[in-house]
Order: sequence, then structure tokens, then C-alpha cells
Amino acid sequence: MVKPVKVGIVGLGTVGSGTVNVLQRNSAEIASRVGRPIEISHIGARRENPNCNIEGIKVSRDIFAVAADPEVDILVELIGGTTVARDLILQAISNGKHIVTANKALIAEHGNEIFTAAHAKGVDVAFEASVAGGIPILKSLGEGLAANHIKWIAGIINGTGNFILTEMREKGRAFADVLAEAQALGYAEADPTFDVEGIDAAHKLTILASIAYGIPLQFSKVYTEGISNLTTEDVEAAEQFGYRIKHLGIAKDTGNGIELRVHPTMIPHSVLLASVNGVMNAIMVDGDAVGPTLFYGAGAGAEPTASSVVADIIELGRALTADHDERVPYLGFHADAMNPAPVLPIDDVVCPFYIRLHVQDKPGVLADITRILSDNSISIEAMQQKDVDGDAPVPILMMTHSVREADLNAALKKIAALDTVLDEIVRIRVELLTA
Ligand code: HSE
Repeated sequence: MVKPVKVGIVGLGTVGSGTVNVLQRNSAEIASRVGRPIEISHIGARRENPNCNIEGIKVSRDIFAVAADPEVDILVELIGGTTVARDLILQAISNGKHIVTANKALIAEHGNEIFTAAHAKGVDVAFEASVAGGIPILKSLGEGLAANHIKWIAGIINGTGNFILTEMREKGRAFADVLAEAQALGYAEADPTFDVEGIDAAHKLTILASIAYGIPLQFSKVYTEGISNLTTEDVEAAEQFGYRIKHLGIAKDTGNGIELRVHPTMIPHSVLLASVNGVMNAIMVDGDAVGPTLFYGAGAGAEPTASSVVADIIELGRALTADHDERVPYLGFHADAMNPAPVLPIDDVVCPFYIRLHVQDKPGVLADITRILSDNSISIEAMQQKDVDGDAPVPILMMTHSVREADLNAALKKIAALDTVLDEIVRIRVELLTA
């Protein structure tokens, strides 16, 4: 039996409970990725959380008991704040524990001290969840884009601010009104001025810039301007000029040094970042080799943030486990734990379809087509017949409900054989891309 990696989780709020749930739900897959099981061996929390099941796990009300527990290999700090969290992490490091944290303020403001202590003790500190929640932007910068010189980074890295700007633009709502809703929905920081005055974004930009450029964490040097002075009038005027206002964190290498700034920014409608709405986050990175790239996803929330926390636990688990020449398996999974699931044939794919046909304009044509579809159990969601002049072929456009590809093909073959159906039938698969 392989020895599990033992994890102590401190803080059982939104992200803590999400982390417990993801580790439990995906435990087999995660063990295959790490090469050993991950076991939550100790939880430090002032109170339980009904959103997760911690039956059978040791729980301490004194969170420092987790930092002192000799069983714990990795301490996961999810309490937030920069005072108790700092003491906890420094104590855990002095006890030889590796650290995973989602705490952006702590890393941005005390990261240099924490890394120095960790280096002296020979332990790792991982903090993917501290920037843009579920988007793996730190690993992307530090690994996937490591070949590049990063020219600039521009990111929507505060969901609350983006939600406010989106509501002002789309619904003409006033700033204060939308902020109250963001607080009620649980997006905003405990102190919402962190969101609207750009402090939260500045914490995240500090971390991004250090990883992109290798500079020490320098939160106090970030130029920070909030969105609280913006009015719906500004938002509408920007639109009339062909721009959209976004609250961006920007890091740029000018050749003379690095610009670090957070402020409202007008960006052309045509850039993808302009279409990032609501609480979503997105980060553009321009690398000298790769060119512009865009990373998009949920910047907060229980499981999106847990996705990054658990990725760090997996990374540290691998480092603790693996031979040094195989720290990250080539395909992400260990060679002896590959997934045996088959790759499915296209015939078995099930999805809605868009169909376009050209037919002769005479009675009964549509009835023939819909009969064939219904004989093959294909249901139509929407249909449109276009007006044409004279005897020209009539275009018929249809959206189906979900259908197995092989069944659709069989029906289309029969429809194509009708004398009244002219030209080739066009069909396009539809993916709604909702989570
Ligand atoms: N208050 C933050 C936001 C939470 O709105 O993005 C995630 O860091």
C-alpha cells in the first residue's frame, strides 16, 4: 500500500468546503495523477460547514494545532487576512510543512518574507488560487509560457468590479446599487473597497508581475485607481466612441522597467477582453514567442478556486512522491495509471444540429421532410422558411433538439433522396458550451 500524502486544511469557508468536496469527489483520479492518494488528515476551523462532509477527519478548533501536527505534509491555508494567516504559515514552515494558499493579500504583501523562510527550511509554497480563482494563470506563466519574454499582461482580475461595470453598461444601473447586489451575492471582499478601489486587483497584479518578470513582490509600488467615480454617463459615452470600459490590471515591460497599474481602461469593442462580462475574469498575456493569448474563467467561487488549490496540492504531492526525473508525468497521468476509457466514434456523439436545405416551393414538401425527421425520432426546436422571388429554391433553416449523429445522418439521407430537395444539405453541430 502506497503511503498517502497527508493534507491539513485550515479554514472551512467557501473555498475550504469546495476543496474538501473536490478532493473527495475526484480522489481516484487525483491519486492516479499524483501516484499516491491524497488524504485530508486534519482540519482546522472555528466551525463546521454544512456544505461538505468531514466525517472521520480529525478537526481542531485551534488552527495552530494543524501547523504543529507531525502527520501533516502539506498545510492548506484558506482563512484569508494577513495577520493570523501569516503567523500560521510561518509556524507551519518552521515545522517543515509545504504550504498551499489562496491568500492574495498575504502573498502580495508578505510573500518575500514567506519565501525566504520556506527556502531556509527547504519547503515549497504554492498559491495558484490567489490570482483569478480557477484560471491556472500562474502555472501558465511559470511553465506553459516559460519560453517567452512577456511583453505585457492585461487582466480583468476582479470579478466584483467587472460585474458592476457590466450591469452599469447593460442595464444603466447606478454604481452603489450594483455594489450592494455584488455583496449580497457573495462576490465582494469582506471590505468591498478592496474590490472597487482596485486593491484586490493590485494584490493579484503584484503576484502576476513577479511570476512574469521575476521581480520581487512590490505591492506598494502598484499604481491603483478604482471605479467608484465612474458613472453610467461615462460608460455610455465610451460605447458611443466604439470602446468599452474595463477595470484592468496591467503589467508591461517598457525596456526601461516594468509598469504596474490598475485603473479603468477603455478598450476597443473588437478585442475579446471587451466581451468578458459579469463576474468572469480574463487575462491577456503577450509573449514574444507565442504572441497574444487569452485566459478566461471564473475568478472566484467555491469549486473554481478549489480547482486551483487542489492543483497545487497535486503538484506538491507529485514533488514529494516522484523520482526527480518524473515530477510531472508526460501526459499528466502516471504511465501505470492511464485512463482506459475508449475514444468514442463520431456516430455516437449526441448534440443539437443546425440544418439548412433548399427545396422546391410546392405543397407537401415540408410535410415530407418533417415526417422523415419524426419517423427517426428527431425533434425540431425551431424552423424558418425564407421568402424568395419567383421559382427560386426556398431555403429552410432548422434547429433540432439533441440527436445522435448516426440517427440524424440516416434521416438526412432519406430527405436528400426526395425529388423536391435541391442541393446539398448543410448541417452544423451545436455546442452550447455551458458548464
Ligand atoms: N473579491 C474578489 C473578486 C474575489 O471579486 O474577484 C476573488 O479574488
